[in-house]
Amino acid sequence: MSELHFPTDAAAIQGRVIRHPWMAAAIGALAGLGRPVRMLEIGSWAGSSCATWGEALRRNGMAGSTIVCVDPWDGYISKTDIDSDRPVYRRMDEWAREGRVLPLFLSNAKAIEQRDSVRVVMMKGFSTEICPLLAPESFDLVYIDGSHYYRDALFDVSIGKTLVRDGGILSGDDLEIQLRDLPDAATYPEDVDVLTIPGRGNVHVGVTRAVGEQLGEVGMENGFWYTRREGSVFRPFALDTSKAFVSAHFGPQERAFIAEDIESGRAKLPKSLISG
Ligand SMILES: C[S@@+](CC[C@H](N)C(=O)[O-])C[C@H]1O[C@@H](n2cnc3c(N)ncnc32)[C@H](O)[C@@H]1O
Repeated sequence: MSELHFPTDAAAIQGRVIRHPWMAAAIGALAGLGRPVRMLEIGSWAGSSCATWGEALRRNGMAGSTIVCVDPWDGYISKTDIDSDRPVYRRMDEWAREGRVLPLFLSNAKAIEQRDSVRVVMMKGFSTEICPLLAPESFDLVYIDGSHYYRDALFDVSIGKTLVRDGGILSGDDLEIQLRDLPDAATYPEDVDVLTIPGRGNVHVGVTRAVGEQLGEVGMENGFWYTRREGSVFRPFALDTSKAFVSAHFGPQERAFIAEDIESGRAKLPKSLISG
């Protein structure tokens, strides 16, 4: 049996972990289909989000589902970010360019397949190269967590819309604020992943812009955004928090972060998630 492995020096667990219980709840929203589903993830890094998808599919009785993971596993971070005072970008860029992330993903993908009885399909390349090759309306859930620079995010959201089947979910990571609440989003630099905006905190402005321009208002919980396709439109909907859980691959530190977000009220999730 393969083991999941997320080394800290590879920033293998990416972003704010509080989004994962919401991702699990998004899978819960598909459980009523009563069949295995097809999912697309744009941006997989070492496979931490994929591990949450796999666990949620298993827990919702959707073994046999497929998770297609699109990622170049190569450099994509802007020079501005690499040269910034946030060392994580330089480290991630080195790890990706030196080919050290892909083996981690592959080993985690194998462990997820074994643990959760799902299929993880790796498609190596940028979304601009791979996504046009995928069949339109062929996914029950599309999750976008690739490059957050505006032009890249815009491409991913616009093609993501064409890849979700009617009734399916289009979702993604790192939406802290919706476009209607940041009307001057287009005035910020496009080659910066996350900007600190006075009074707003850290904002992935490229994601705010791309999601707002393509979809208008979406559901948003602790950075996870989601919307459901209804015919030719996408509408926000409410996630059922009873379907949320804390991913098994998280250690004490990630669990403490999630507990803090729930206890402080920043995350509107049941306290039972952390006491159980
Ligand atoms: C924030 S990380 C993803 C983290 C992952 N979803 C998780 O939670 O564990 C962003 C990933 O997007 C990938 N990426 C960057 N640009 C991309 C593009 N144009 N198409 C697909 N993936 C891209 C990067 O290689 C990186 O692995």
